[in-house]
Amino acid sequence: MTYVLFNDSILDEADVAISYKDRGYHFGDGVYEVIRVYNEEFFTLDEHINRLYESAAKIEITIPYEKNALKAMLHEYKTKVQTVNGSIYLQVTRGVADRNHLYTKDEVPVILGFDLPDKGVSQKQEQGVAAYVTEDVRWLRCDIKSINLLGNVMAKRKAYDHDCDEAILYRDSGVTEGSSSNLFLVNNQTLYTHPANNLILNGITRQEILAIASELELAVIEEPFPKEVLLHAEEAFISSTSLEIVPVHSFKGDIETTLNVGPVTKKLQYAFQERVTKKTNASV
Ligand SMILES: Cc1ncc(COP(=O)(O)O)c(C=O)c1O
Repeated sequence: MTYVLFNDSILDEADVAISYKDRGYHFGDGVYEVIRVYNEEFFTLDEHINRLYESAAKIEITIPYEKNALKAMLHEYKTKVQTVNGSIYLQVTRGVADRNHLYTKDEVPVILGFDLPDKGVSQKQEQGVAAYVTEDVRWLRCDIKSINLLGNVMAKRKAYDHDCDEAILYRDSGVTEGSSSNLFLVNNQTLYTHPANNLILNGITRQEILAIASELELAVIEEPFPKEVLLHAEEAFISSTSLEIVPVHSFKGDIETTLNVGPVTKKLQYAFQERVTKKTNASV
């Protein structure tokens, strides 16, 4: 049986009745998180829950549970579906209403959660991926982890159509992030990444990497850089909950160059695994 977390119940998927009037369906009016499970333990659960509530608040959705109650539901769900290594997807939409752009603020949010299998990314982590550099055509509130991901899905498709695994997005103001990841460059023992403002999602993995960099006393510069800087990077990598840290071995599209999977990226990957082990008791 496939179980789904639906509001405060765990149901067989066949019993989940999503309304055709759900605003998530009409407007992409909702927010989400993907939370990793290692060795039966959630990784950075509080950080994901905090970001979920922040994203919801930014669009005036009030999640109808205390954080601890939602966390308890997620723990119960994880136990029910017996996730050992994988992820749990969780979304909150504004709720059910007659179709109207205008929300009333009285809608009752709808919560949906389900488990996602481990993506098996170790080959990418070792060998790196190609990334397609293309314009960032998304809106100006990329800090909100919205389920409305049209700009992201279009960029991802474009990347795959050019034999790349990820799209790297840039605006006039500089390179922002990937379609579903954050981007870091390495030059001269220094990490470069876009600042956490409205133009990127402040990834939880990104934040873990910044904490690791601080522990390792690696310098970090959080400033936007023009896409031409990609041509001079010694190393580059993308980060996300599902990928952890994946090196970029080539940029294609509006910038074309190749890079080595370098020592700083490898050091960070190693330190990230140590952090996972420490925080989840996972023997990964
Ligand atoms: C646009 C975007 N940026 C960055 C990330 C990485 O965020 P996290 O590390 O929290 O998974 C994601 C993850 O899905 C994303 O969609």
